[in-house]
Amino acid sequence: MSDPRNPQPTTLYEMIGGAGTVRSMVEAFYPKVQSHPLIGPLFPDNIDPVKEKQYLFLTQFFGGPPLYSEQYGHPMMRARHLPFEITPQRADAWLGCMKEALAEIGMEAGLAELVLQRLQGPAYHFVNKEG
Ligand code: HEM
Repeated sequence: MSDPRNPQPTTLYEMIGGAGTVRSMVEAFYPKVQSHPLIGPLFPDNIDPVKEKQYLFLTQFFGGPPLYSEQYGHPMMRARHLPFEITPQRADAWLGCMKEALAEIGMEAGLAELVLQRLQGPAYHFVNKEG
């Protein structure tokens, strides 16, 4: 419970609205990824398991419960992306799909900007090939 005498820092997870919002983000995001010419071909036809892992991961990454690590251990996300050629252009495409997804679900612009800023670091960190 929040106690006004002892305010706790709010997580991005809480700020965006918790589980329901993370679920909507993921649902709006993957159709855009799949139809993107630069990154769509990297993903399997059955996208449901990827969606689920992303839901677990983003929950934890935004400061919610550590759902991904409970199931899969240490995220090691850069290592998990090494099998795929990730160029700066692909990182831009991934972030572009996320930006569109946030607009589609109606996230307030300032919050959407915060979310995108938070994702930018990892996206460019996963780049493992020159464009
Ligand atoms: C930079 C551009 C990115 C590309 C091109 C990309 C591409 C991919 C691909 C191809 C997969 C594997 C799908 C499969 O076959 O299972 C994957 C998995 C995943 N990606 Fe990304 N990704 C990018 C950025 C990100 C970012 C920024 C995040 C989160 C901060 C992220 C989170 C994940 C997660 C959680 C998985 C599932 C990992 C697992 O198997 O447990 N990705 N990504």
